[in-house]
Amino acid sequence: MPTTKIVVAIPGEETYSVRIGADVLAGLGKYLTRIPAIAKAPRLLLISDSNVAPLYLADAKASLKAAGFRVSEIVVPAGEDSKNVAVASEIWEAMAAVGLTRDCAVVALGGGVVGDLAGFVASTFMRGLPVVQVPTTLLSMVDSSVGGKTGVNLSAGKNLVGTFKQPSYVCASTAVLASLPEREWACGCAEVAKSAVIDSDEFFFWLTEHAGDLVAREEAVVSEAVARCVVFKADVVAKDKEETLGVRECLNYGHTLGHAVEKLAGYGTYSHGAAVAEGMRFAARLGAALVGTPVDFVLAQDELLDALGLPSLPWSAEPEEVLAAMKGDKKARAGAVRFVLPHDVGKWTVEEVADEVLLEHLAAWKGSKQA
Ligand code: GLY
Repeated sequence: MPTTKIVVAIPGEETYSVRIGADVLAGLGKYLTRIPAIAKAPRLLLISDSNVAPLYLADAKASLKAAGFRVSEIVVPAGEDSKNVAVASEIWEAMAAVGLTRDCAVVALGGGVVGDLAGFVASTFMRGLPVVQVPTTLLSMVDSSVGGKTGVNLSAGKNLVGTFKQPSYVCASTAVLASLPEREWACGCAEVAKSAVIDSDEFFFWLTEHAGDLVAREEAVVSEAVARCVVFKADVVAKDKEETLGVRECLNYGHTLGHAVEKLAGYGTYSHGAAVAEGMRFAARLGAALVGTPVDFVLAQDELLDALGLPSLPWSAEPEEVLAAMKGDKKARAGAVRFVLPHDVGKWTVEEVADEVLLEHLAAWKGSKQA
């Protein structure tokens, strides 16, 4: 099976590769022997969760051992509840107990929770060990495994404590996606759609044409979708590594309403992607009212999201409640709520939207759910 290698070059950081393909997990150990920061590591710590470990930990470990690495492992309970300082602290203690030193490395085997948690402990233990990301969900392959955001949640909100830590290597095995439940698949498809809308006509039309194949998990299309998203994200992060220059903010398209929906509907009621897709629909309509986004774009995006198994949600909340949730989000800044608004495919700006304007549009959104 062919594999794809994408080189991520971020100013001020070591260049790293993202290897994508059906069989790449088997080659993990061999690939790591070629990474200078990892090759001589006296020990690797594999971090995984209770869903992923029974399926893929043995394969990952076998590949690492066959390449000559000594490997320890830690498995955390699956789910967002593990992404907290108490679990991070248990991992720090385990890292010390197995004798990890600064020349060792961490390998994160799992979805976004494991990737964020492992990246966080790796970036803080002994002031920083290299981390390898082995994402096992579509969402983590197309978004969180690349770009270096790590974090844990507080009771006050998600990802409120974290670091920027670029991985030394990313190994995206599309074969492991076969075990992903439908809901998680659609969740990842939302981030693919987000990337396509923000990136270019070329990506958007390709995705529109191949939406059915992506839903059917056709290997060549899955690999190409992941590769396109990684290229897009690497380019964005290279321009604005720590989200201070107004470029990386584009990755928040759909997330302003999306995060509010996740929070108000109750975390887990809708997947992150389903909520982001709802946010994309809302932001496109807001764009039509505020920045002249063509109706054709709004409808084409609706059709794409429908085709990806991301229908408009049957849920809404009081406008004031949604506004308050948006203002409490970690992405929020003081003052008016900021939205990534698409002007068309591949064209966007970040706009501050006054409360009264936003309340009017949230009322229309709520009304559309009751029609
Ligand atoms: N997931 C958004 C970012 O990495 O900036």
